[in-house]
Amino acid sequence: MRWNGTGKVRVPPIKCQGIKTKLVPFIARSIRWQGEGRWIEPFLGSGVVAFNLKPRRALLADINPHIIRFYQAIQRNEITPQVVREFLTEEGRRLVREGEAHYYAIRERFNREQNPLDFLFLNRAGFNGLVRFNRQGELNVPFCRKPERFSPAYISKIVNQVRWVYQLLQTHEWEFRVAHWEQTLSEATPSDFAYLDPPYEGRHADYYNQWDTEDTHHLLEILKRLQCGYALSMWLENPYRQNMIVYYLSQSHVVKVYEHFYHVGAEEKNRNWIREALIIHPDFACMEDTLVSPCSVQAAQGSLF
Ligand SMILES: C[S@@+](CC[C@H](N)C(=O)[O-])C[C@H]1O[C@@H](n2cnc3c(N)ncnc32)[C@H](O)[C@@H]1O
Repeated sequence: MRWNGTGKVRVPPIKCQGIKTKLVPFIARSIRWQGEGRWIEPFLGSGVVAFNLKPRRALLADINPHIIRFYQAIQRNEITPQVVREFLTEEGRRLVREGEAHYYAIRERFNREQNPLDFLFLNRAGFNGLVRFNRQGELNVPFCRKPERFSPAYISKIVNQVRWVYQLLQTHEWEFRVAHWEQTLSEATPSDFAYLDPPYEGRHADYYNQWDTEDTHHLLEILKRLQCGYALSMWLENPYRQNMIVYYLSQSHVVKVYEHFYHVGAEEKNRNWIREALIIHPDFACMEDTLVSPCSVQAAQGSLF
């Protein structure tokens, strides 16, 4: 895939669980696809992968309607950088004046009216940058407890992120759709390429991220019959557990591994590693540049596969 290797990965305006910002260069370098058909992403999330890879044509879908409606509103020019600046400046001022009551008033309004600008506000002022919905499909993330959240610098940062996506949407043939992944994949044709990043299994904390072993098996069944090339992201292992399904898939796919670290709390001793796998249809795996820094990944690859 096209990636100049030196450019910085840019971050979209909407954050979500499992966002793949760190993995974008790794994903781009691992895939061999000429870009003739459509880039299909049935689990779009934040959009960070597609937006950085910039395929000419794409079908970008997610079951979460709020994410998709936000990008559709940019596409229709209803949300522009200027609109975002004015909205966040006004609501940010009220947040300073009224404190967390204003966050919860916007949350209530969003759950009633589902306005994409309210979604952006909540997404950027919620605790830990989480997007989480309860069983009724209502956003239930608590306030980050920073009434000064929307400083001029923070607003400009978000406006620039919106401008970036806004400009991309002017020049690329991208369709955004609210859809179940199976529906999205049913439209794939041989010249397309699908990048799949389903939710982690068994974390039922979020209404739009329900995913269990049965879903994984069903997805793998559909992939066997898929008309186009594909790459599937899955966690491989952490210090405590291994995802055995990746080992099984390595018999029929090219599996590339990326290791990174995350912190639980601020202390250095709580720094943990996690290895992520990219499981690629063998005809679409880039065989050069198979190893990705840091070097420990090489050891992991050598010993595992
Ligand atoms: C791990 S996240 C994707 C993250 C994304 N690659 C990124 O970097 O931001 C998984 C996404 O799958 C979506 N999702 C969950 N179940 C789905 C389903 N049945 N069909 C389509 N999308 C689904 C969730 O709403 C979530 O946005």
